[in-house]
Amino acid sequence: MTTLGELVLQEPRAAVLFERLGFDYCCRGDRTLEQACRQQGLDTKTVSILLQALADEPRNTDLEAHDVARTTISELCDHVVTRHHDPLRRDLRRIGDLAATVVRVHGRTRCELLDLERLFDAIRSELETHMDIEEQTLFPACRTLDVEPATTGFDAALLVLLEDDHATTGDALCALREVGGGYRADSAVCSTHRTMLNALRAFELDMHQHLHEENNVLFPRVRARIAAGAER
Ligand SMILES: [Fe+2]
Ligand SMILES: [Fe+2]
Repeated sequence: MTTLGELVLQEPRAAVLFERLGFDYCCRGDRTLEQACRQQGLDTKTVSILLQALADEPRNTDLEAHDVARTTISELCDHVVTRHHDPLRRDLRRIGDLAATVVRVHGRTRCELLDLERLFDAIRSELETHMDIEEQTLFPACRTLDVEPATTGFDAALLVLLEDDHATTGDALCALREVGGGYRADSAVCSTHRTMLNALRAFELDMHQHLHEENNVLFPRVRARIAAGAER
């Protein structure tokens, strides 16, 4: 049975539909469409028709200029760094500054803003450490594996560790959205608050894509390469 992660791989625009339906395709992307629909109380047949309609629409090449399903392991690592890690570091700084401003001005009357800032700061610090581990340890090992498939030096336990981090981040993103009132712009108390809510929504979307590319594309490909190398 095709999983949510595989469906997004085959048709990247499925991610937009899954976001709207509240399907976690990144950290829980190993579920089938049927399982996800059942858990959300939705009709599988209807969702399948919507997915098919997406596949029938002409592709927007700008939107999908980078097809992660067709890259090498090394290219995928480069893509994760330039498309996700570098912008993410900038976004984390920017959202942290926005949250600090909003809390300074409105924190006394809106206590949930303090909770949001605290939770965001915790996610930020975990993500910064996580990205450093990927860039300094995992990705160099992946690039070696790409050119020397028979190498035995790859620490596969690291993948499990990082997958656990991804699951923790996925849960924290859900909690952040809840504290942020679903990031509804009409709940904003000022324009800085509105800017922060919009930035948080974009941050969440990009994190889902980022986690999907690592959990459902890069890591399985690395595991397959390790297995193929061991058979040589
Ligand atoms: Fe990453
Ligand atoms: Fe990661």
